[in-house]
Amino acid sequence: MNITIVGTGYVGLVTGTTLAELGNSVYCVDIDEKKVEAMKLGKVPIYEPNLEEMFLRNIQAQRLFFTTNLKESLEKSDVIYLALPTPPGEDGSADLSYVLKVANDIGEMMTSYKVIVNKSTVPVGTADKVRATIAAKTSVEFDVVSNPEFLREGFAVEDSMNPSRVVVGSSSEKAKGFMSKVYQPFTNIGIPIIFMDEKSSELTKYASNSFLAVKITFMNEIANYCEKVGADVDKVRLGMGSDDRIGNRFLFPGIGYGGSCFPKDVKALIKSGKQENFDFQILEATENVNISQKVILVSEIENYFGGNLRGKKIALWGLAFKANTDDIREASSLDNIKLLLEKGAEITAYDAIAEENVKKILGDKISYASDMYSALENADCLLIATEWSEFKNPNFKLMAEKLKNKAIFDGRNMFPLELPEQNGFFYKSIGRRTVGE
Ligand code: UDX
Repeated sequence: MNITIVGTGYVGLVTGTTLAELGNSVYCVDIDEKKVEAMKLGKVPIYEPNLEEMFLRNIQAQRLFFTTNLKESLEKSDVIYLALPTPPGEDGSADLSYVLKVANDIGEMMTSYKVIVNKSTVPVGTADKVRATIAAKTSVEFDVVSNPEFLREGFAVEDSMNPSRVVVGSSSEKAKGFMSKVYQPFTNIGIPIIFMDEKSSELTKYASNSFLAVKITFMNEIANYCEKVGADVDKVRLGMGSDDRIGNRFLFPGIGYGGSCFPKDVKALIKSGKQENFDFQILEATENVNISQKVILVSEIENYFGGNLRGKKIALWGLAFKANTDDIREASSLDNIKLLLEKGAEITAYDAIAEENVKKILGDKISYASDMYSALENADCLLIATEWSEFKNPNFKLMAEKLKNKAIFDGRNMFPLELPEQNGFFYKSIGRRTVGE
């Protein structure tokens, strides 16, 4: 099939590359000429493990193309995916202006039947808005379908080539036929397509992300309570997770959830609820707990130093919102940096992948180290904000030599308690006994 993807951000790029890998001819359209030129030369604009290989393979096989020309791509394609940004507006609701602008352009340009697929995370009712926008500009037949994306950053290739399910919201049999054809390679290997109406599909995405945010936040509260009563959250997690009604994934406590999806989607669902006079009380609580969870270790660091952080040098391992990505959107590291700087501390951070992105927004407000151990040089303590695997098994002897105090505040529960304990460290993690008190 010939497919157009409008928007080559994270979702668009991964979707386009995946659909090319499944054997389609895919035209990726973006208004950013520089980006399009770079992609034509084989440059992947985002960091995502294993994406580059698949991207280059499909460019070479002449199944993956990049252009700024929407009209030409439209003419060649039956199915048009919209993978456009839906940033939160000032009030937290999703801003649909990019999506509706492109819908308007498509309405003006199309000359034959098209299936328009909403891939971006959009509020319930957006398919209707896109339909109305296009219909205002054309009398040519078309359908609008909702097909939310569930992939995780860092696992995008794995998730997009082997999704747990494909959700398609469409009230048109003709469009369902097209979508079945696009995803035939998945159905062939037993991956289910779940068909439903557009609104249910749109809500499925928000409900899934919000549920996961609630799940994590619930565990964060259990972890905080564990500390009060002397229980160990690792044990509780294992005990809970073996019940397959609960499941053992997304039960890892830490310094809060971040990223481009959970915070935005939780906010947007709360906002959508308000518009219907509906209070998502559980989501409001989740959002509030997460805000305090993100900086929960700052007060611990403050206590450790007798309530005063002025002039303290803090080493920070990890800036990305989670491991295996350079994305720093809503990253807990940033909240910690902000608060620590306000309290007069100085920060030297190390993150081989996300450093560049942080530099763009923080510049020289903090220092950057070229490796994890040099970040510790003369530091008063270490704070861990991202679970990069290179931090998992560090040389504690070397750490002890570099750090002024053998103190680690770990927002990701990276180590079994025995390791820092045997090496004589003070070690504060989340929901577990504090070592070396
Ligand atoms: C998420 C959804 O998983 C994905 O389905 C959706 O399409 C986009 O949003 P992503 O934002 O890439 O994906 O990251 P994810 O791996 O889900 O992690 C989100 C946040 O939760 C991160 O900050 C992560 O550190 C945190 N997290 C995750 C926990 O704190 N504990 C966990 O057990 C799992």
